Amino acid sequence: MTTARAHTNIALVKYWGKRDRQLMLPQTDSLSLTLNEFYATTKVEFDPSLTADQITIDGQAVSGKGQAKITAFLDIVRQLSGKNDFAYVQSTNHVPMAAGLASSASAFAALATAAAGAAGLQLSRRELSRLARRGSGSATRSIYGGLVEWHRGTDDLSSFAEPIMEQVDFPIEMLAILVNTKKKKVSSRSGMQSSVETSPYYPAWRQVVVDDMKAMKKAIADRDIPTIGHIAEENAMRMHALTLSSDPAYTYFDAETLTAIRLVHELRDSGINAYYTMDAGPNVKVIYDRHDRQAILDKLSPVFGRERLVVSQPGPGVTIIDD
Ligand code: PMV
Repeated sequence: MTTARAHTNIALVKYWGKRDRQLMLPQTDSLSLTLNEFYATTKVEFDPSLTADQITIDGQAVSGKGQAKITAFLDIVRQLSGKNDFAYVQSTNHVPMAAGLASSASAFAALATAAAGAAGLQLSRRELSRLARRGSGSATRSIYGGLVEWHRGTDDLSSFAEPIMEQVDFPIEMLAILVNTKKKKVSSRSGMQSSVETSPYYPAWRQVVVDDMKAMKKAIADRDIPTIGHIAEENAMRMHALTLSSDPAYTYFDAETLTAIRLVHELRDSGINAYYTMDAGPNVKVIYDRHDRQAILDKLSPVFGRERLVVSQPGPGVTIIDD
């Protein structure tokens, strides 16, 4: 039996599209910040008496599509380890409230680490990153803490994440505005596929990411939070332009998403270096220097309510918490 804990991450240069759906090889590199506030704790135990994998998430039994996805992932671990038993999987999401931010990144990074441990595999962090990738692309990066780069690679061996700065030594912070915590209508999996296949802007996106990766790494080396925020914001909006330019077009924006964006612009107009990013859902994340936290809370709280604002610092990589 092995229990592992992994934190979620938010991309500053987004991953949006696969090149190989089976191996989960991405079209582009990406770069993220692991967060300390949101994490999953997952326990895995293989048991020869089971006739199927028994999975619970937050105490609820998982069946149907969710179960099939986790069983397919465990099949990879069974294949790697030669262990043919089914497993008990118990996972708990630790989020400040039912946030809709319980991300597949922390879930699959924790599952990969716990399942590999329980199956007796001795994997390096790079190998764990490659394994987590098979569950969910963003999970590739959640093996590491802090600022992390995922090299798209050209095959299973070369597509893994690596830390750029595991112990973040400058005061970057991220605040999540919980706009809407319901399940998204278009999954990231089908959304990105549709963008790759139908958006005429997809080739331009590939070049955007090449340029943004370079500029973002320089901004990180310079510990330049306004430039990091600026690149992350521009990159996120160009990713969301892929959704609007897909056929059929769709969007992850809600009405309140636009309110949040307007408030961040107003903060900037008033001289505070706040920037926003968004993933495959309507919640907005604000990037800023922690010294500006109070000014940002003062601006957002009257509109959204303090309970819908979650402040997060850079977080750690995956850990085994008992064995
Ligand atoms: O790998 P997934 O299904 O969690 O997709 C991640 C997609 C984004 O969150 C929008 C971008 C990213 O790089 O995390």
